[in-house]
This record gives sequence, C-alpha cells and structure tokens, in this order.
Amino acid sequence: MEHQHGSSCPIPVIAIDGPSASGKGTVAARVAQRLHFHYLDSGALYRLVALAASRAGVSLEDEPRLASLAGRLDARFADDEIWLDGEPVGLGLRSEACSQGASRVAAWPTVREALLARQRAFRQAPGLVADGRDMGSVVFPEATLKIFLTASAEVRADRRYKQLIEKGLHANMEDVLRDVRQRDERDSTRAVAPLKKGVDARLLDTTGLSIDDAVEAVLAYYRQVCPC
Ligand code: DC
Repeated sequence: MEHQHGSSCPIPVIAIDGPSASGKGTVAARVAQRLHFHYLDSGALYRLVALAASRAGVSLEDEPRLASLAGRLDARFADDEIWLDGEPVGLGLRSEACSQGASRVAAWPTVREALLARQRAFRQAPGLVADGRDMGSVVFPEATLKIFLTASAEVRADRRYKQLIEKGLHANMEDVLRDVRQRDERDSTRAVAPLKKGVDARLLDTTGLSIDDAVEAVLAYYRQVCPC
C-alpha cells in the first residue's frame, strides 16, 4: 500500500491551515523540526506560480496559461532556499506584490488542480507538516491532525509588518493591514477550496500566544492523536 510507515501506520500528516500572516509558516516549520518531519510550505507554490507568470508575461487572468505554468513549474525546496528554474528566488517571494499575485492565481481551480500531486509527493517518512489554506480539507483530507491557526487581523498585520521591516523590505502599516484584509476576503470567498475552519480541525488562536506557545500547543495536540 502507498504511504505505509512501519508495519501498519500511514505516514502521519499534520495539516496547519489558516489566514495569511497568522504565523502558521513559522509554527509549522518549527513543529516539523522538532518531530524531524518534512515540511510543505504550500503557499510558496502559489507564490512561485505568480512569480513565474510575471517573468513570462502571463496575465493573472489567463487561467489556462497559469495552470500550464503550474503544471510545469521547475521548483525545488532545498538548503533553506526555494529555487525556480534553477535560480534561488530569495526574499522577493515574500513581497506584498507576490502575496497578492499568489492569492489571485490560487483562486483558479485548474491552477490548484495542477499543484495537487506535487503537494502530495511531500508526504514522506517519517512524516509531514503541511501549511496552507486547504491542507486539511483538500490536499490531505485524511491528515492525522488538523489545526486551524489564526489571530486577529490587527495582530497578523503587525506581525507581517515587523517581518517585512526585519527583512529590510519597504512596508507601511496601513497598507499591510489593508492587504491582510483583502487577502482574507479573497481567500475565504473563492469558489474552490476556500479558507475555512473544517469541523474536524482544532482551532488555535495565537492572538495572545508567542510562537513557542503555539508550537508547544500543536505538539501537545499531536501527542494526543499520534497513532504510532
Ligand atoms: O501562505 P502564503 O501567504 O504564502 O500563501 C500565499 C497565497 O497562496 C495565499 O494568499 C492564498 C494562497 N494559498 C492557497 O490558496 N492555498 C494554499 N494551500 C496555500 C496558499
């Protein structure tokens, strides 16, 4: 059988979904580190499609060409870096332009479809922590643990703002808050795989929590459900 781990256990998946700038990327990466699991940053795939489209002059309205780009994406995740067409993409992938582009390309059903198999291929022993919007609902519906990680829009905007400044990128608090709200709206109202807490996902509100607290909370949930 596919995805077998040990004798009878499927390879565990921890699905962490939530809105932009909720801290789920940092939390997911640290949980993966602690458990020695693989890590899937699914948002990066949508960002890469937006970046590839901008480089190739493909309109973000052109669904067929975007889906074709997504299907042929030459992307590699290695050495703490993300590579597109053999070149490291660097911080540009985290810019607001790329964030907005990713949110727009992610609304096209055929683009999402084109990225499905690539995402599922990250499920390798000893386990996977996957972060995104539809990890628990679409990509890994049978995940061992599903977390919906969120925080208030203001706290998320504040975190994103600090992150951008730390990275030396230009940022303005009002613009960041507006962008966070805009992306929330687009990501949760799209027809396909909208951002939404599933009934089987545990809510983790990090508004008053540090990253470390959030990591410990996810690990504690995982210990409760860990099958092996
Ligand atoms: O997690 P992120 O901010 O890097 O994601 C960028 C955009 O990609 C986000 O606005 C919505 C989209 N996305 C998605 O639709 N589904 C995912 N699983 C991950 C990201």
